[in-house]
Amino acid sequence: MKGTNEKFSGKFAVITAMAGSAIGLGNIWRFPYMVGENGGAAFILIYVICSILIALPIFFAESIIGRRGGKDVAGSMEALSPGGNWHKVGVFCLLAPIIILSFYSVVGGWAIDYFIKALQGYFANVSPEDSKLYFSNFSSSFWAPLITHASFITITAAIVSLGVVKGIEKLNKIAVPALFFLIVLIAVYSISLPGAYGGVSYMVKPDFSKVSSGVVAAAMGQSFFSLSLGMGTITVYSSYMKKSESIPATGLLTVLFDTVFAILAGFAIMPAVFSAGIEPYAGPSLVFETLPYIFASMSKISPVLSYVVPILFFFTILLAAITSEISMFEVGTKGLMEEKHLSRRKACSRMLVVSFLLGLPCSLSFGLLKDFKLAGLTVFDIFDKSSSNILMFAGAFIFSVFVSWRMRKEDVYDEFTNNASLPGARKLFKPVYFWIKYVIPVLIVVVFITNLCM
Ligand code: PHE
Repeated sequence: MKGTNEKFSGKFAVITAMAGSAIGLGNIWRFPYMVGENGGAAFILIYVICSILIALPIFFAESIIGRRGGKDVAGSMEALSPGGNWHKVGVFCLLAPIIILSFYSVVGGWAIDYFIKALQGYFANVSPEDSKLYFSNFSSSFWAPLITHASFITITAAIVSLGVVKGIEKLNKIAVPALFFLIVLIAVYSISLPGAYGGVSYMVKPDFSKVSSGVVAAAMGQSFFSLSLGMGTITVYSSYMKKSESIPATGLLTVLFDTVFAILAGFAIMPAVFSAGIEPYAGPSLVFETLPYIFASMSKISPVLSYVVPILFFFTILLAAITSEISMFEVGTKGLMEEKHLSRRKACSRMLVVSFLLGLPCSLSFGLLKDFKLAGLTVFDIFDKSSSNILMFAGAFIFSVFVSWRMRKEDVYDEFTNNASLPGARKLFKPVYFWIKYVIPVLIVVVFITNLCM
């Protein structure tokens, strides 16, 4: 099989694929600690506003390019604006997902290890010191994280090699409802813990004194990352959308599911953090260092739950990471299939090798290469910062400019309104188009600069 003309089978498939890409480590790992650091509910409020006013229109732009172009990112841009340099720009846009998926796979690998450890009951009675030590020993060792990184990327490649419908669609249709079920379960448990009230009120009471321009920029960056924008994933998944699906409805539902999930993850984590008497500002180490200890401290209340909850929690992280990883992997796979005329299998194997090799120094940057730094940043940080702070914004900027300045307005209208058959979309079109054309590119530049200066 050369190129791919496969389509998602229906609405449920489209929504779960988009939500599967959006819901990931960003929601469970990053969002709760950002809420913790940036003023609780005040941050959530700003985040929701950013998602609707900025991220959603960019989602529309990417989706319109993908479905109208019907090819991989570079191919779609070439098809919609032939003869210029847009094909090259599209190839450049492949860089970001390949970088992200490589370091994302390292963290996904950690989740595999933690899930196995949870199954063995390791977290059921770990002390705070041991919990910290375990993470630093594990992440800085040579083989263990490399093996889990390789396993994570191999699972991803195996799913993607099954194809759009039999692989990606099938997994997401099961995984996304399962993720919601699991996170609700954990949140209920967390809220029911003694002393959890502090965490609940932290999530619902805004502290506006913490809000600064940096916090607003951070909220925007997070909403981009969380909605998988600027990476071509929405573009590629949209190329698998049938013409009868509604782009505005898909975008709105994706934002809704992604945001609700992030907030639920906050409720799964913050009440437990408060219940254990820990400050909510633990930062990125919250999930892998602090939480295992918190789960263990619950063994006084119920030894069974302190065994089961870590299993559920790390399984949730693992599943969420896989559904996001496959969306990035598919961007590169489709790129190779269509640009280099490879079969899906061959494209997947190449992606597997490239992402394993790129992830290698990221994994080692917690151990062997921890002193290898450029401008004070480890390889992992460089990958993370260059993709999330630079390439992601570049991609979002390119897609919104392309849709509003390069594509024919009538084509954009047809895609957004399904040939004028969606009355709500017809009404929304004018303001949305204006917003994408004149406001979004300026806002992206402002946020980009603010983020760089932070
Ligand atoms: N949205 C994913 C998350 O929240 C990460 C991601 C970024 C996935 C970019 C695809 C593309 O974890």
